[in-house]
Amino acid sequence: MLAYLDHHASTPCDPAVQAAMEPWWSVQAANPSSRLHRPGLEAAAAVERARTQVARALGAGEATGVVFTSGATEANNLALKGVVEAALERGEPRRRLLTLATEHRAVLDPLRYLERHGFPLTVLPVGRDGLVNLEAFAAALGPDVLLASVMAANNEIGVLQPLAAIAELCRAQGVLLHVDGAQAAGHIPLAMETLGIDLLSVSGHKCYGPKGVGALLLLPGVALAAQLHGGGQEGGLRAGTVAVPLVVGLGEALQRCCADRSERARRLGALRDRLWQSLEALGGVDCNGAGAPRLSHNLNITVSGVDGTALHRLLRRDLAVSSGSACSQGSPSHVLAALGLSRAAAAASVRFGLGRGTGEAEIGRAIEAVSAAVRQLRG
Ligand SMILES: Cc1ncc(COP(=O)(O)O)c(C=O)c1O
Repeated sequence: MLAYLDHHASTPCDPAVQAAMEPWWSVQAANPSSRLHRPGLEAAAAVERARTQVARALGAGEATGVVFTSGATEANNLALKGVVEAALERGEPRRRLLTLATEHRAVLDPLRYLERHGFPLTVLPVGRDGLVNLEAFAAALGPDVLLASVMAANNEIGVLQPLAAIAELCRAQGVLLHVDGAQAAGHIPLAMETLGIDLLSVSGHKCYGPKGVGALLLLPGVALAAQLHGGGQEGGLRAGTVAVPLVVGLGEALQRCCADRSERARRLGALRDRLWQSLEALGGVDCNGAGAPRLSHNLNITVSGVDGTALHRLLRRDLAVSSGSACSQGSPSHVLAALGLSRAAAAASVRFGLGRGTGEAEIGRAIEAVSAAVRQLRG
């Protein structure tokens, strides 16, 4: 059987989450904006329960806003374009935007869109370990910077940026901090308010919840302009009928994902380390992001002396793994390029994303499949 090791691309929906969502598809199908009857009020209450679950899971208090979206891509777009538009409306002189070369395209593309519309963009490089240099980050901040966007955990190499230090630097300079937390929420502690993250994006299908739902959390006082206009839902910040089953699923998934987070991280970290030790022993195998703090369920390797296309053709018989971001659709990984890898080396890289369903059997199969493929390709 194929071993599924692509949990950064998507996680299977937790059966308990599916059960929590179930009544809201048809038995309780009212629109949560229908406030004149009991079914509508019950749907609205379910949405508010989910909002509280999401806020609690991410270390946010009652005053912090939670705007439900269709996923982290939409949450990122709302955060970045919404902050810029609100700043324009109030005549804010700060215009420069700051980010890292290893961000997800769901951050880089909206920022490049804003750059084309007159907002200068600084994209900072990262070191060979995938981490931003804090001195370089501090030097890039200035009185002209409006917003910085830095991801919590990288979707390819699992590297965790030093968010607490980054947030402190931003705060000292009056710069808003947006964090793409799609790969981090439910997997590492993300205490939004303690850390001082102004805006935080999360996604349902990265934490054992449903696809098609996410949220943008924003600290009180952060001005945001809506990017979808219509019925005024979500406090006027995101029009459109709220997808009750999906937001119920997101709330439940995040709560459950946080509840078994430490135990899961310990178990998957041990499996990941076993996988790495066996693959390293093959020789000519490097771990991308080695030396940096990383998600315990991530391993990204580059195999030297093999053709990447041939390697992945052999691996896909036994493994569901990836050679980069699932969203980059075959183009070379900009994340691995930012670490200094050549196109050929990036192509000969494999991302393993372990998850709740991963056990010794899957890791054993991965070790066997990679070892056999490398032996065959190296002749
Ligand atoms: C870091 C990161 N940000 C954003 C996204 C996009 O999330 P969604 O699929 O919810 O739009 C992903 C998905 O791969 C991701 O890994």
